[in-house]
Amino acid sequence: MPGLTIGDTLPNLHVDTTHGKINLHDYVANSFTIIFSHPGDFTPVCTTELAAMAAYADKFAERGVKLLGLSCDDVRSHKEWIKDIEAYSKGKKVTYPIAADPNREIIKQLNMVDPDEKDSSGQPAPSRALHIVGPDKKIKLSFLYPASTGRNMDEVVRALDSLLKAAKHKIATPANWKEGEAVVIAPSVSDDEATKMFPNGFETAQLPSNKGYLRFTHVN
Ligand code: BEZ
Repeated sequence: MPGLTIGDTLPNLHVDTTHGKINLHDYVANSFTIIFSHPGDFTPVCTTELAAMAAYADKFAERGVKLLGLSCDDVRSHKEWIKDIEAYSKGKKVTYPIAADPNREIIKQLNMVDPDEKDSSGQPAPSRALHIVGPDKKIKLSFLYPASTGRNMDEVVRALDSLLKAAKHKIATPANWKEGEAVVIAPSVSDDEATKMFPNGFETAQLPSNKGYLRFTHVN
C-alpha cells in the first residue's frame, strides 16, 4: 500500500504537542499548514532545521501558513530540546507546536517513516518528511529527505509560494521560479481565455513544434 501522498486527505489524528493536545483537522482549520518530521530530539541536523523554521516563522505567518513540527520523543523531551534550539538560533523563539510520537503511530499514518533509520531502542525513526496541507485538508505537496540531508527552508517557502499562486490563478511555476518572476499559463486555458484572465497579457515562447503551449504571464 502506498503511504499518504499528494491528493490524499490528512488523517484527522489526535496528537499531543508542546502546545497541548490537538486534532489535525482543527489545527489546519482554514489555513495552508506545513507538517514536518524529524528523526529525533537532541540530534544535530534536526536542531539546525527546527532553528531554521523558528527563523522563518515570520515568513510563513505573513503568508497565513501554520507550522507543526513532529519528532518521536515525548513532549517533556521536546520542551527541554527547545531550550537548545532557541540557544542555537540566537534567541529566535520556537513559536510553533512540536508533536510527540513515542509509539510511532503518527509517523506511520503520515507516511513519515524512514525504513533505514532506527532509534537506539531499535524502533523505526521518522524521515525528514514535510507535507503542505491545504485548507481542504488534502496533501498538496510532500518532500521526503533521509536523516542525513537537512532541508532548505528557502525551497519550502518557494514551493509554498508556487502552491498559493496556483490555488489562486490557472497557472503553474516553471523550473527555478522565484516569487516575482513570470509564471506559465496552465495548458487547460485557451489563448482566448488567457487574454481575458490575465490582465498583464502573456507571451508565447516560439518553439520548433509551433504548438504555442509555453505561455508566460505575471500574476500577483
Ligand atoms: C540528525 O539530526 O543529525 C540526525 C538524526 C538521525 C540520524 C542522522 C542524523
